Amino acid sequence: MPTTLPADPRVESLIPRMTLEEKAGQLGVFADMVRPFAPDVNPETNVRNATEVLEQVRAGRVGTLFNGVGAEAGREIQRVAVEESRLGIPVLLAADVIHGMRTVFPIPLGEAASFEPDLAERTARATAIEATAAGIHWTYAPAVDIARDQRWGRGAEGAGEDVYLGCRFAAARVRGFQGPDLRAHDSLLATAKHFVAYGAVSAGLDYNFVEIAEGTLRDVHLPPFKAAVDAGALAVMTAFNDINGIPASANHALLTGVLRGEWAFAGVVVSDYTADMELIAHGYAADERHATELAFSAGMDLSMQSGFYAAHLPALVESGRIPMEKLDAAVRRVLSLKAAIGLFDDPYRSLDPAREADASWREAHEALARDAARRSMVLLKNEGGLLPLRRDARIALIGPFARDLDNIEGCWTLFGDRSRYVSLEAGLRAALPDGGARLRVVDGCGLEAPLQGGIEAAVAAAREADVVVLAVGEPQRYSGEAQSRTQIVLPPAQQALAEAVAATGTPVVVLLRNGRALALQGAVRDAQAILVTWFLGSQTGHAVADVLFGDYGPSGRLPVSFPHDSGQQPYFYNHPRTGRPELPDMKEFKARWREHPHQALYPFGHGLTYGQVEYGPTTVESPAVAWDGEAVLRATVRNSGTRGVEEVVQLYVHDRVASRVRPVRELKGFAKLALQPGEAREVEFRLSRADLAFTRADGTQGAEPGWFDAWIAPSAVAGEPAAFELLPPQG
Ligand code: NOJ
Repeated sequence: MPTTLPADPRVESLIPRMTLEEKAGQLGVFADMVRPFAPDVNPETNVRNATEVLEQVRAGRVGTLFNGVGAEAGREIQRVAVEESRLGIPVLLAADVIHGMRTVFPIPLGEAASFEPDLAERTARATAIEATAAGIHWTYAPAVDIARDQRWGRGAEGAGEDVYLGCRFAAARVRGFQGPDLRAHDSLLATAKHFVAYGAVSAGLDYNFVEIAEGTLRDVHLPPFKAAVDAGALAVMTAFNDINGIPASANHALLTGVLRGEWAFAGVVVSDYTADMELIAHGYAADERHATELAFSAGMDLSMQSGFYAAHLPALVESGRIPMEKLDAAVRRVLSLKAAIGLFDDPYRSLDPAREADASWREAHEALARDAARRSMVLLKNEGGLLPLRRDARIALIGPFARDLDNIEGCWTLFGDRSRYVSLEAGLRAALPDGGARLRVVDGCGLEAPLQGGIEAAVAAAREADVVVLAVGEPQRYSGEAQSRTQIVLPPAQQALAEAVAATGTPVVVLLRNGRALALQGAVRDAQAILVTWFLGSQTGHAVADVLFGDYGPSGRLPVSFPHDSGQQPYFYNHPRTGRPELPDMKEFKARWREHPHQALYPFGHGLTYGQVEYGPTTVESPAVAWDGEAVLRATVRNSGTRGVEEVVQLYVHDRVASRVRPVRELKGFAKLALQPGEAREVEFRLSRADLAFTRADGTQGAEPGWFDAWIAPSAVAGEPAAFELLPPQG
């Protein structure tokens, strides 16, 4: 159920006393130039200086400031708001705190690979504790966009390509940020963004148009927002893109119809940065006033950075274009949000310099960051059991990420404490005897360019080593906002390094750093072992060493499909069925590329452990499932290896015949199980009609009676299904 904003008499007594300018002011969000921290993450528009910003606060023209940090200066902003503005309304202080504040946790895509929503809840809680200590009330996270095209750079900020996984992580992150009590000094308001279908931008090009079927919008892109709202999120941010020709930021059907109407969302809708202004560039609004009217009338409460609401809302209300009641309703929501987090009782909430100086959380959060990082890695391949490595092996750590500290955080880390970042080299040395006296470390090349003599040095080190740990991948700035790629491959200089090192014949473990699924090529694809490490955050080096040496066994699974080739994009495992699927012995005139099958190189859900896990057959308790009943599915999972594992057991379903073409498989459940060597456990999942629902051909939502296949399996392509029939309603 969505969280409601309780009525507050202080809010009701304020609204009639506010001027139109003060009302519009409460709906304005501006860069916090008093505590300017991250001016470079957004294009500069209407950036004022600190004096002007404080003047606006004093005049009651600013309701929210964003992307500043610091308790002391935050107190001064708040003092001006409550003591020097006419009505003394406190300001909200917001920021992009996406995957950690001082302690940096793995990028959200990486953390989704843990298949542990509880972990995301804990890292979000830790983030909230650090952010609220640093003078922030509200974060612009979680991003809950479903990313089915790996060319798009912002997949790094979400939970990957799957709806079910996306919903579970969206809800967990909201719970973690906001905590159990909104009024607590360490509760951080969450924002589900970017509403909606931002991940469906055409060709994976950021900000591009979105053409999408209603069923796909409803079944794929809307559910994570619903999950976030149901978990209590009190803010939603609109997206930059249009949807079938109507910009998301002026989309009445979605903002008012779906969000407020169907879902009863009671919180605030904030624009993305200058998204109302961009209605003009879209060619949807003629001018500023028109853009303001369209955005506000559609349901956007708060305007970020354009200044349009302050400039045009008063006149629009005076002229009758916008009813006063509608303006008041938006103002009521913002003021109620301020009341709900306790700002009217204590405007200095989360602005306590003593709490900011107190770093007693540090040890616990570092341990959590290390654990989150090792749980996020995915072992794609481990030929001959090359991993884990022996500590007495002669190891050559090669690659541009070996000593690097500038590509540890991943995108959207504005406030990380760099002094605490652990490089790969530092992590490996700490884990090896004598500080890694026998470890050889060679850069080999730059992130994008060759290094003079780099390959020669790398080859020499590889020749003398028992094993090469090759740290290659995408520079950090290749993912995140405005970072779309046409070729999702390694930079050529790194690929050349990999080829030269592999040619020595020394076994290679690839440590892949990446903000998206990549199309692996040549020596990187063919290495004996591949460990996907995403961007793991502050504790990168220690966490990687834990996995390399087997102090922690890898347990992550791919939240995105790794394709054979960039040209397959958009490729996602749960694609609708084609009329001409490939068959093992029939490939002509089938849905395949000339070069590749219509499959992933490493599918969604794939990931190895250091154990040997075997799945028994999927069984169904009764193949006849009543309309109001449940399908009960079971399988026995056994670790027949010699090391303990944590296994992600996944449940997939497929609807055999339906009124709309259904996906080949869809994830409907998962469980992460610890299994000791020799241990077997029976896993049970239950599916009700609601789990089988989709947007039917007539536009209604629900399941359709008929036969379904279900797999309990280690990935989206593994296993043999059991079948059950959902019987029609009786009578
Ligand atoms: C633009 C980004 O799209 C959004 O995610 C972010 O929260 C805002 N800028 C504010 O920095």
